[in-house]
Amino acid sequence: MSIEKVLVVGLGMMGHGIAQTSAQAGFTTYVYDSNEESRNRGVARIAEQITGRVKKGKLTEEEGQRILNLIVPVSSFEEAKKADLVIEAVFEDLDLKREVFRALDKVMADHTIFASNTSALPISPMAAVTQRPDRFIGVHFHSPVVVMRLVEVIRGLRTSDETLAAVQEFLQKVQKSPVEVKKDSPGFITNRVYMPMFNEAVWTVYEGVSTAEDVDQAMRDGFNFPMGPLQLGDFVGLDTMLHILEDLNEKCGGNKFLPCPLHRSLVASGYLGRKSGRGFYVYE
Ligand SMILES: NC(=O)c1ccc[n+]([C@@H]2O[C@H](COP(=O)([O-])OP(=O)(O)OC[C@H]3O[C@@H](n4cnc5c(N)ncnc54)[C@H](O)[C@@H]3O)[C@@H](O)[C@H]2O)c1
Repeated sequence: MSIEKVLVVGLGMMGHGIAQTSAQAGFTTYVYDSNEESRNRGVARIAEQITGRVKKGKLTEEEGQRILNLIVPVSSFEEAKKADLVIEAVFEDLDLKREVFRALDKVMADHTIFASNTSALPISPMAAVTQRPDRFIGVHFHSPVVVMRLVEVIRGLRTSDETLAAVQEFLQKVQKSPVEVKKDSPGFITNRVYMPMFNEAVWTVYEGVSTAEDVDQAMRDGFNFPMGPLQLGDFVGLDTMLHILEDLNEKCGGNKFLPCPLHRSLVASGYLGRKSGRGFYVYE
């Protein structure tokens, strides 16, 4: 099955980036948000970015306009009934996502594939509230969506090979690099591998083995990482990092995801990283 039209549900930080990425690749992209103001803000952000690219000479005015014309704001799922793929990017709340998919399932065409951009929730319980668990999949875009190439593609228990192939083909067309996660398991690939490293870096600083600067430098210079694990944690937000660690710790047990007291103190003190002006580093 070939995907031609897309519906993005939830036009916040991730949704607007996903919609822009889709329209830039020539897909008609319906955009919906339960909060009309958020939807309009998302559309305005896309327009701003496209206009910026036109000003920088990266797109002609005509190309920019063509992309913007492909973004179609809708106020109901009915208006986007022709979409072949729905990408959901609402708040990270399983009950809310299930409610959204239940509603979509009643309206969208039978062939339409449903995808969730969840960063950590399991796919199968969302698929289970629909009549199309075989046409249901996870697509974990990374932030900022327009820049980052990776998309983790997560198979639910009943996701079909056809669904996986169609979504991978779509992601290649939008210039992303899909990586298959064969099992719907906590942390998928990226957080499962990165979070223990970040956590160990925090414990290394907490135990006085080295400073944050030196831990990061060691990882950059020793392994050619573009950013140290603590720098990246500051960039993501230490509150978000703590939330992910707590979630993985609860789901997986053991101690590799056990948050360090230093991490908890930083978050409790409002040192959330780049966004608050201070985390492991101080930002101007
Ligand atoms: N922020 C990140 O770095 C990041 C990275 C990867 C994945 N994700 C995941 O992407 C999803 C969205 O995250 P975000 O950061 O864009 O959130 P956000 O808060 O920026 O945006 C969420 C949007 O969903 C809308 N919404 C809420 N309920 C809705 C409903 N019932 N129907 C339609 N729209 C609804 C809100 O109005 C809001 O505009 C989450 O599942 C998150 O875990 C986030």
